[in-house]
Amino acid sequence: MKLLICGGAGFIGSTFVRQRLLEHGDQVTVLDKLTYAGREENFHDIADNPAFRFVRGAIEDSQAVATAIEMASPEAIVNFAAETHVDRSIAEPDAFVSTHALGTYVLLEAARAHSLRYVQVSTDEVYGSIEEGTFTEESPLAPSSPYSATKAGADLLVQSYFHTFGLEALICRGSNNYGPYQYPEKLIPLMILNALHGDPLPVYGDGMQVRNWIHATDFAAAIGHVLEHGIPGEVYNAGGPDEEPNMTVVTRIIEHTGASESQIEHVTDRPGHDRRYSLSSQKVRDLGWTPQTRFDNGLEQTVSWYRENTWWWEPIRTGDYRAYYERQYGRALS
Ligand code: NAD
Ligand code: TYD
Repeated sequence: MKLLICGGAGFIGSTFVRQRLLEHGDQVTVLDKLTYAGREENFHDIADNPAFRFVRGAIEDSQAVATAIEMASPEAIVNFAAETHVDRSIAEPDAFVSTHALGTYVLLEAARAHSLRYVQVSTDEVYGSIEEGTFTEESPLAPSSPYSATKAGADLLVQSYFHTFGLEALICRGSNNYGPYQYPEKLIPLMILNALHGDPLPVYGDGMQVRNWIHATDFAAAIGHVLEHGIPGEVYNAGGPDEEPNMTVVTRIIEHTGASESQIEHVTDRPGHDRRYSLSSQKVRDLGWTPQTRFDNGLEQTVSWYRENTWWWEPIRTGDYRAYYERQYGRALS
């Protein structure tokens, strides 16, 4: 397939790009604004592939989108582009509104003008928190943070383009992802790098919040199944095979890194913190998808990747991330 992949320079987007180029033989054009989370380093092993092209630009910029479509002449758009960190959405929500609302609108208009298939990458966070049981695609949307609320708004806009204009639009909602190339503002890479550096491990509140972990290669594969086999107008949930409380995740990271339990520090909880996420994936399993990586193995491999790929994270940990960390956690990194 010829694909235009928006937000392909980020964590999951670059995993998807690699998978489509190397495992499916697709021709891929990436459109990405390169925010703090988007990095050309994520293409280090595929940048020279003749089937790969990169355009720097924002999805809310209709001219940049038109240029990317002209270069790619795609059969489909897959949209990963987003602001993705809940804590940043609490501190500074504006970019979340413009990228998710306006950006998604510009892409939908472009898909409509060129009659393209369109896959929106979304999140389980649009359903809000669930104490017991599991969310299905029929569960009501009840987002809690500016991040999840603006993602939910984008999802509703995508569905309106199917209902109103007959656009071949689909949505794939993933649970919490982890794996190589994840920016270290998120729980797992933050804890791995702090553990390796002897820094405190900041656990929000009691640390008993539960997340449903999926390896990024599994989520990327689920998005590929939705792209190839999904029914237009439908939503597909892709949840990981394991749920863990944050304290268990942190304890395992301590075991894998040889850090000390004394590095754990319970800090002020996130405002409006969702207690538990859990996602049923039966519908995407019916398309032929199954997750391949269990959390225990995937976490160990992820710790090894961060240990071995200092070239990837050193520029982040010595750059703007330090100022972000100080603002967010009220202390400096070592
Ligand atoms: P990320 O923060 O690593 O990457 C986001 C990418 O989008 C970056 O490359 C960034 O430069 C780009 N981007 C941001 N704003 C843009 C704009 N206006 N125009 C063009 N590009 C822009 O995010 P991620 O973790 O890879 O998440 C990708 C998608 O998957 C998001 O839509 C997110 O909501 C969804 N998702 C993430 C998770 C998770 O646990 N990380 C779980 C479920 C769903
Ligand atoms: P995060 O990786 O930000 O993902 P999300 O909020 O989208 O689920 O956080 C995962 C969980 O880890 C969440 O319950 C918040 C918690 N957390 C901490 O306890 N400490 C931290 O420093 C971070 C970043 C997250």
